[in-house]
Amino acid sequence: MEQMSISSLRQHFESSWQDFISTHYVYEGLLAEACLYALQGAGKRTRPILYMLFAQSFGKDLTQSQLMVPAFALEMIHTYSLVHDDLPIFDDDDMRRGRPTVHVKYDQATALLVGDALLSDAWALLSGEFCQESLDRDGIAQRMQMIRALSLAVGSHGMVQGQMLDHMWTNKPGYSQMDLQALHQKKTGDLIAAACKMGSLAAGANSELVTVAELFGSKIGLAFQVIDDLLDGKAGTGKSQGKDKEQGKLTFLQTMSYDRASAYAKELTDEALSLLTKWPVACDALMTFVQSLLGRTY
Ligand code: IPE
Ligand code: IPE
Ligand code: MG
Ligand code: MG
Ligand code: MG
Repeated sequence: MEQMSISSLRQHFESSWQDFISTHYVYEGLLAEACLYALQGAGKRTRPILYMLFAQSFGKDLTQSQLMVPAFALEMIHTYSLVHDDLPIFDDDDMRRGRPTVHVKYDQATALLVGDALLSDAWALLSGEFCQESLDRDGIAQRMQMIRALSLAVGSHGMVQGQMLDHMWTNKPGYSQMDLQALHQKKTGDLIAAACKMGSLAAGANSELVTVAELFGSKIGLAFQVIDDLLDGKAGTGKSQGKDKEQGKLTFLQTMSYDRASAYAKELTDEALSLLTKWPVACDALMTFVQSLLGRTY
């Protein structure tokens, strides 16, 4: 498969994703229907795109499944995290991606199970199920590395720990800047770092470059959550407005002004971009993409 521009990668992801989800979540009861509903939401696909941009950065000839399977798994796990995040016991949100949240459309028990199902299905997909992949020895070894990276990033040392910190610091005084930083890094930064790391593995990068990709992703991921905090006050995001303030969430706006937080997101992005000087080939599309994340409006 030849190297693609950001817009072709996005289009390629969308069409393959629609085919994939409609084949694997065919109506056989309410669970499949609710999973499909969650997966059909119009997300920005930031994590799959970062994965794909890294994966193709060395111009390696990747098969459709090498390019898409990890990208799908990332989007499935991200979607599960949103379905649970919106539940009344956490952020109690009614709107997501411009539509009613899964627990509003169905019910809370269904939303909980949709999240559980998507997380488990992502591991099945990555280990070669669903896409009839026949992985050779090297392919299996590479997938193992991806599964390790992704499971660590979203488990009790990563995203779920970040959500725990978010829960613990809701409406609670006494936090430090370090608590805020750790919470954001883990709840959002770790999955984005894993997407970049997985992409570099698919590209065939050596271990030093894999570490560069992961560090790049951590910085971009933290910047992504800083901007998410700034967007909470805005209309037109497809989510309800002003929820963080209403609920007493620990966000960057609790410790700094809007302008300072915005400048911080830019500093993090610049630091990430300077890491790319270590990348042995030009990665203009990746640079353009992460710069565009600073100006996102939803
Ligand atoms: C929202 O993520 C939650 C965070 C982790 C910041 P996105 O802003 O990527 O949401 P979608 O996928 O585009 O809906
Ligand atoms: C969500 O953070 C992080 C995860 C889902 C892991 P937020 O709670 O800030 O995300 P939004 O604003 O609801 O999208
Ligand atoms: Mg939350
Ligand atoms: Mg939320
Ligand atoms: Mg938010």
